[in-house]
Order: sequence, then structure tokens, then C-alpha cells
Amino acid sequence: MRSFAVFTANKMSGQKLKIAIQKQGRLSDGSTALLKKCGIGFTNGFGKLKSEAQDFPLEIFFLRDDDIPDYVADGVADVVIVGENVLAESPQPVDVLEKLGFGRCRLSLAIPKGFDYATPADLAGKRIATSYPRILRDFFESRNVEADIHEISGSVEIAPSIGLADAVCDLVSSGSTLFSNGLREVETVMLSEAVMIARRGLDEGLQTILDRLLFRIRSVKAAAQNKYILLNAPANKAVEIASILPGMRSPTMMPLADEGWVSIHSVIGEADFWEVVDNLKQAGAEGILVLSIDQMIR
Ligand code: PRP
Ligand code: ZN
Repeated sequence: MRSFAVFTANKMSGQKLKIAIQKQGRLSDGSTALLKKCGIGFTNGFGKLKSEAQDFPLEIFFLRDDDIPDYVADGVADVVIVGENVLAESPQPVDVLEKLGFGRCRLSLAIPKGFDYATPADLAGKRIATSYPRILRDFFESRNVEADIHEISGSVEIAPSIGLADAVCDLVSSGSTLFSNGLREVETVMLSEAVMIARRGLDEGLQTILDRLLFRIRSVKAAAQNKYILLNAPANKAVEIASILPGMRSPTMMPLADEGWVSIHSVIGEADFWEVVDNLKQAGAEGILVLSIDQMIR
């Protein structure tokens, strides 16, 4: 009840949570899509730096991802969506509130074709171009390798071909950037995905807004990991078929107009989805429909 009172209060006081998301790049579409799926409408026209949500007490800032950790530290933003790679490179201490499951990529070492590579020790004394010197230094230190790290702020992948470096350490997702620059990925330095972090010491009003936002995000995430399934089963096999379905509590069963048949509804996880469907078919299920879920409130 108390938090409802606070929420009503920040509606009246006009208090707004400030969130920073990446302006352009790997995480921008995913961040915008996530907020929209949370029922938060806003406009983000080209070149726009700031937007107000229409139906939620939120102000959205569109920023360069590398600057985002500093904005939380300075209190310019209350919460941010940023890649773990950016956080790991930043000296700012932060607490991760939630992994968001998009923007997955890896920070990898890559070498030109013709470089004879077996272990990280083969990079001792070599010049390595990267925008992630802190992470890379830790990687080599933990392996007792002394490499010559050259920090450059962009276009890392062209460094070997212009004679600036012997190898690179850069973000990879599809691998097409490395491929088109004649580079071969040899070592994963870290895995990364989008996460949400908040600044420390939010007041009660802002914390309430953040809790509401996190509640919606978790519902959207749970929904994305599950499917709604409907099927028809012969009544004499209904119990066996229902036992194959995990369900949130237990599956819903309803008689069909055609006596001797029932309709069974349930929720199944995406991970074991095809295996469950195979088992259902084998057990005699028919007319299987699978629907995606918008929100899943637990
Ligand atoms: C990274 C990296 C590569 C590209 C790799 O840049 O520097 O250019 O993505 O992706 P691929 O394997 O799918 O080809 P990013 O867009 O993240 O920009 P940033 O590092 O400047 O933030
Ligand atoms: Zn960046």
C-alpha cells in the first residue's frame, strides 16, 4: 500500500526517472523495443537527445554507449541500459540490476590470416589494437603474457592491414566485420549482453518508479522465454498428455463439443519447446497451436 501511495505522489509531484540508452549501435533497437514492450511510448526521431514517455514517469536520454557509465556516476541518469563490455571497461563501480537478454556479443582476440597462433602466449611482445585496454590488460595479466596494447577508439579491425598492429581485440557478433577484414577469431576474452544498472542512493519516489519498470521488464523477459500452447487430446489420453506439459500451475483442461476429446492449454519454456512438442504428438495430441506471449505476470 505504501508504494502505491508513493507512486500516486510522484504522479502528482511530476517526479520522473531518467533513463539513458544507446543512441546508435548494437543496443539501440533492442533498448527501444524493450521499453515499448513495457507499454512505455515515446518518440525517438533522428538526432533527438531526449524524450519524455507519454504514459510512464520516465525521461529517456539517447547517449553514446561509452559515456553512459559516467552519466550514472555523475547522477545525470538514474538508470541505464548498457553492454557489459562497456561496464567492464569503465572504472566506475556499478551494481547490475537485471540482465536483459539482447545485444549479445563477445570481445575476442583476432589475428590476420597467416599468423601462427596456438595460445595467448603467442601474442607476447605483439602490438594489439583495441578499444578495451583495461579488459585486455587483465586478460593478459592473468595469463602472465606481456603484450603491447594500443588503444584506438574505432575501426579497430583495419589496424593490422594498415600496419598499426599485429592483432586486434574487438567486439564480435555475426563475425562479418572480422571476416571482411581477413581476420580470424582465436580467443574469447569476455561475453557480453545488455544489462540495466542504476545509480546508488535513489530516493524513495524514484525507487518506486524503478521497481515498477523492473516489474514490467521481468514480465516481458519471462514472456519472451515462454510460449502458450493449445492442443486437442482424446479424453482417455488427456492425463498422460497433460503430464508432459509443465504449465505455470497445472494445465487447463476443457471438454470439446465432440465428446471424447478435450482441449488442453498451457505454457511451455522455449528451451525445451521442440522436445515437448514431439512428446505431445507421440502421446496422441492433435491440432497443436503455439502462440507467443506478450506479458507474463508472476
Ligand atoms: C563492433 C565492432 C565491430 C562490429 C562487429 O562495433 O567494433 O565493428 O561491432 O560486429 P559483427 O561481428 O556483427 O560484424 P559496435 O557496433 O558495437 O560499435 P562500438 O564498438 O563503436 O560501440
Ligand atoms: Zn561504443
